[in-house]
Amino acid sequence: MPKTPKKVLEKLHQLLDRSYSPYSGFAVAAVVKSGSGRLYGGVNVENAAYPLSRCAEQSATLQMVSAGEREVLEVWVLSRGKQPATPCGGCRQVLSEFAHPNVPVHCLSADGPELHTTLGELLPHAFNKQYLQQDQT
Ligand code: THU
Repeated sequence: MPKTPKKVLEKLHQLLDRSYSPYSGFAVAAVVKSGSGRLYGGVNVENAAYPLSRCAEQSATLQMVSAGEREVLEVWVLSRGKQPATPCGGCRQVLSEFAHPNVPVHCLSADGPELHTTLGELLPHAFNKQYLQQDQT
């Protein structure tokens, strides 16, 4: 089982306390490592108009892109409870825009259990920009 780097773990725990999740009560924090090796973090940010809520993985990815980077090399997700939460379908698709299928995704739970997988395992046959570049005639 890969050991989570201390810097990543500290960042995840710090972020988890910043989650804005008054409606679900389910806090999530995510950290992505970019092509430059920098770490970008995000939390879930909910809204009284529920569908406008943002997931943590998406927040982290948007932070990275806003900082001028376009490559995700590794992903960590932290939630509370016994079962580590995996990225939702929408987050898998958002990550796949910037991450290769072999990118490791580490799902951690504050209580201990971990799930280590890859984006390709989580989202096989992802829709990507190659489909848009096909000749439509
Ligand atoms: N959530 C995430 O932040 N990431 C996921 O991949 C799964 C779900 C959030 C969305 C919502 O704020 C809460 O968890 C409950 O669904």
